[in-house]
Amino acid sequence: MIKGDTRVHSLYGSPVAHSLSPVIFNTTFEKLSLNRTYVPFEVSKDSLKRAVEAARTLGFDGFNVTMPHKIVILEMLDGLDENAKKSGSVNTVVRTKKGLVGYNTDGEGAVRALRSYGFEPSNKRIVVLGAGGAAQALVHRFSTENNTLRILNRTLDKARELADNATGPSRIWYEELSRSSLEKSLQDTDLLVNATPIRTSTLLSQLKIPLNRVKDTAWVFDLAYDKPSEPIPAGRGTISPLEMLVHQAALSYEIWLNEPAPFALMRSSLVDYLGKDWK
Ligand SMILES: NC(=O)c1ccc[n+]([C@@H]2O[C@H](COP(=O)([O-])OP(=O)(O)OC[C@H]3O[C@@H](n4cnc5c(N)ncnc54)[C@H](OP(=O)(O)O)[C@@H]3O)[C@@H](O)[C@H]2O)c1
Repeated sequence: MIKGDTRVHSLYGSPVAHSLSPVIFNTTFEKLSLNRTYVPFEVSKDSLKRAVEAARTLGFDGFNVTMPHKIVILEMLDGLDENAKKSGSVNTVVRTKKGLVGYNTDGEGAVRALRSYGFEPSNKRIVVLGAGGAAQALVHRFSTENNTLRILNRTLDKARELADNATGPSRIWYEELSRSSLEKSLQDTDLLVNATPIRTSTLLSQLKIPLNRVKDTAWVFDLAYDKPSEPIPAGRGTISPLEMLVHQAALSYEIWLNEPAPFALMRSSLVDYLGKDWK
């Protein structure tokens, strides 16, 4: 129950109506009898600055940001942790004595999800579609291992900027997302990460690439989960975006509460809500 002294967490994004983060956090807070709540807010690009000020004024303990705010929010905060600074992307904000501090849990959340499927993102050939906030966090995380990364994005300049800013030992190429660049990339990849809001099956069909061009050895990892995905018959298998969702949420929980997250409880909260496991 929300009371006079309930601590507030929130989510800012557009769209947010599909988000399953409120389910994960509110069920977990309730089951642990924590006097906390998590509220999603539809926040447009134009109103993000005012929404950040509102979080400050109203004393929210912390909030998540999602599409399309993960990059532009950096300049509105009072501090950034090293990972958020290097990746240039924030998905978690915590209120501290020094003000609002930004973190990013997407990269580590994605790696934990991949590992749970037995995929170790090190010495691998990885194709990343997109160059927005989520792609930035994942490319930054993958680049710290010795991977070969290929970034394909609709806007070439953003792919270039992402490749140029990446540090670490990985080799990084970038190209405009097109039929030929994607078809070529699919020939020798271990993992296709799709960090655009469009499903891989839809992108392939829009670009007239047959689904069987996905190699038997390649994992496919769509980050978006707002619509059910068309099955991709080829490939090694698909990594569920929901596995990443729970991992990145658990890491946000640790930043906000400064204690280990109840990962199993957070995951089962979502599984129970959906009525089935995704793995
Ligand atoms: N499962 C999870 O835990 C998780 C975590 C993070 C994000 N996500 C999901 O990942 C997706 C991306 O999030 P984000 O924060 O990175 O968004 P973002 O910053 O707005 O970036 C979106 C990216 O997708 C590209 N894009 C958009 N529409 C496209 C289209 N029609 N065709 C080709 N490319 C297109 C954009 O290309 P341009 O640069 O050309 O505009 C941009 O690179 C969202 O659906 C989000 O919900 C899921």
